[in-house]
Amino acid sequence: MRIGILTGGGDCPGLNAVIRAVGKRSFDNGHEMVAVREGWRGFVDGIFAPLGRREISGLLPRGGTILGTSRTNPFKVDGGVDAALAHFASEHLDALVAIGGEDTLGVAARLYREHNFPVVGVPKTIDNDLSGTDYTFGFDTAVTIATEAIDRLHTTAESHNRVMVVEVMGRHTGWIAVMSGIAGGADAILIPEHPITVEDACAQLMKRHAGGKDFSIVVVSEGYELTYASGDTKLVAGEARATDQFGHVVLGGVGDALAREIEHRTGFETRVTVLGHVQRGGTPTPRDRVLATRYGLKAADLVHEGTFGRMVALHGDSIVDISLDEGTAELKTVPDEWYDVARAFFW
Ligand code: F6P
Repeated sequence: MRIGILTGGGDCPGLNAVIRAVGKRSFDNGHEMVAVREGWRGFVDGIFAPLGRREISGLLPRGGTILGTSRTNPFKVDGGVDAALAHFASEHLDALVAIGGEDTLGVAARLYREHNFPVVGVPKTIDNDLSGTDYTFGFDTAVTIATEAIDRLHTTAESHNRVMVVEVMGRHTGWIAVMSGIAGGADAILIPEHPITVEDACAQLMKRHAGGKDFSIVVVSEGYELTYASGDTKLVAGEARATDQFGHVVLGGVGDALAREIEHRTGFETRVTVLGHVQRGGTPTPRDRVLATRYGLKAADLVHEGTFGRMVALHGDSIVDISLDEGTAELKTVPDEWYDVARAFFW
């Protein structure tokens, strides 16, 4: 077989480890690999490159994606789907491994459903917001980076008697905030799923400081809407960029707005750190390397068997496969029991 492979959406630590694993297993099975460049854009515009044993060597610890990525949606480009199918045929491809989040895999699911496109999906995102799998790779790395930042902010917060607000990514779910907040011992965590009000957050900090603490760490997820006791809410976000054909608003900036509110309402000196794309850059953690490797081997096995329209997933400790439709059906939000673990350490 000639097997194409692409990475779509935001990059994420572990993408290269998946590419390596799919390649290694597929070469061992006697297949050829073809690199599809820059996500679905590579199919629409016909940008392909050879992918041999040499190209997949040294990839395990490497961040980013050697294939490049984009937020191109062939269903939103005039003639995009026809072009993608035509390029698939003219490249003499027999199968595709698509590595991505809800958007990239949503396209894969639709192509399979409507065109019987022979595709297998691998779930990636630092946001961990895909409902079909317990964990996506990249999440552990993002949480590790955020936790290290919180640890570092603790010592400077303590030295200056300050409130430190840390803004983390996660889009419309608070997984990174909750996990890094628990691991880093945050004193308040604000996430979209459990939007405590600005007034309540400030009251918590006042109580903590009245109880003898001189500093606090507040973790806020970029998708948290500033929520007020009056019932008013405000999402800090910009318009979607033209290059994002999935139409996502650009999140970021809530940390700054929250820090200003905290300083104004409590009188505590407050600083803000926005971790941004640092959470997505660099080498994957061992856990993400292992998960990415297991996903890649399983995806290659499914292709080898000719089982398409599937997404590999982690259920408990086992790697399984589920339908792409099921894998992309809904957003996985932070359940109450996780938030309760974090809340047990608020004042
Ligand atoms: O989905 C991953 C993610 O990093 C989100 O957490 C974040 O909101 C978004 O991508 C940022 O996208 P971009 O790389 O386009 O700025």
